[in-house]
Amino acid sequence: MVYLSKSILRGEVEISGSKNAFFPAVGAGITLGAKKITIKNTPLVRDIYVMLKIIEELGGNFEIEGNKVSIYTEKIEPKLIDQETFSRIRGGVVIFGALLSRFGKAYIPYPGGCKIGKRPIDQHVKAAKDLGFYVEETEYGVKAYGEIKKNKISFDIKTVTGTENAILMSIRSSKEVEITNYAKEPEVQELIKYLEKYGVRFIKEEDKIIIDPTSKEEQEEVEFELIPDRIEAGTFLISAASTEGRVRIKNVIPEHLEIVIQKLKEAGAKIHISQSEIEVEGKPIYDPLYIVADSYPDFATDLQPQITVMLLKSKSKSVIEERVFPERVNHVFELRKMGAQIDISGNKIIIYPGKIYGGTSVEAKDLRSAASLVIAGLIAEGAPTFIRNFEIIERGYEKFLVKIQKLGAKFYKELKEGIKDVPNFA
Ligand code: EPZ
Repeated sequence: MVYLSKSILRGEVEISGSKNAFFPAVGAGITLGAKKITIKNTPLVRDIYVMLKIIEELGGNFEIEGNKVSIYTEKIEPKLIDQETFSRIRGGVVIFGALLSRFGKAYIPYPGGCKIGKRPIDQHVKAAKDLGFYVEETEYGVKAYGEIKKNKISFDIKTVTGTENAILMSIRSSKEVEITNYAKEPEVQELIKYLEKYGVRFIKEEDKIIIDPTSKEEQEEVEFELIPDRIEAGTFLISAASTEGRVRIKNVIPEHLEIVIQKLKEAGAKIHISQSEIEVEGKPIYDPLYIVADSYPDFATDLQPQITVMLLKSKSKSVIEERVFPERVNHVFELRKMGAQIDISGNKIIIYPGKIYGGTSVEAKDLRSAASLVIAGLIAEGAPTFIRNFEIIERGYEKFLVKIQKLGAKFYKELKEGIKDVPNFA
């Protein structure tokens, strides 16, 4: 639980490693047969610990030293993981492709993750079937086994973890595999780089990738370094712009935020980019935007809830078309409690300009809506905003309160026992 007061964010913030690039890194290491997987620049957030628990349940173990995580996989077996653990995250689903590749069999419960609408895994199943694995869907989950008999996977829709799984399971093939309609998110590109580092060859075309796993080099140990988290970076850029502040984000890959930067500029924010830094300078009123949230390189759905808040400060109506998770509107219901005028029409979120007010209790129901409610609390007029279930932010943002406090956010956090541990509340 946290109380936030109107604040202006100013200063510098260091971006952590990418949460969603960690899962395919684990998958790549298992697939490559490595006994030890070292992953540098790992953000120590809750979803990562859940993934490490999954590794333990499979028989492996791990060590954490600063932001370096070492995973030992020698004793890993393709056994069924506890449903309760598995359903706490989404990223763990890459274990399916990784185990199938390394052992020729895998059995996973249906995964969970943030409640942001339907999240089926039919495309992951399709990928395994397309390759000729035997696949059984039980009430409990999905079981796959056998050898690769075919070499073409064709996705009906673009899916990030589905593409990651397809790549991982293809590494078992004794010849080239072709994947069409694949997702191009930077985290997928990173998986390709992890595997290229150890000899797997990829040919990337506009709509398909061809994987040649035959040149894979068997490794005792592999090491990967995670890219900066583009969603954390985008969250800080949007937060700074929303609070009319000026923030320099450090350790980023600006190319991964191209559309976000373009949209912030189009709205009227000032942006300065250098090699691995972006500085944003906000203002009180923005030009309205039309945003399409879709797969990369389009605007990331994981930043849709955050920019919804900023667009309350537009001169006139803004529209966001949410094409990935049309039901990702948890934040809209909470923002309305603060006085926001936002309509939902099909997959469109229509945002009317207007002030929002604190003195309200709102609930964070998923990771990115928690981030959006923080921004709302930072721009709300009057009394502080009380965010229930704020802790969900720890699933994906490393040291979030420490970082926003350094930037000047005014808040206090109430621990379960009622102790206030951040005494900077104005
Ligand atoms: C990844 O989820 C991310 N998670 C999500 O980040 C992100 O929101 C999402 O990609 C979209 O960018 C991880 O990488 C761990 P999808 P994923 O499969 O892979 C439909 C965050 O906040 N679909 O690309 O689960 C699906 O319903 C999280 O960090 C099927 O229909 O997303 C959605 O409409 C939240 N069948 C669309 O595809 C399938 O088999 C894209 O989902 C798979 C997906």
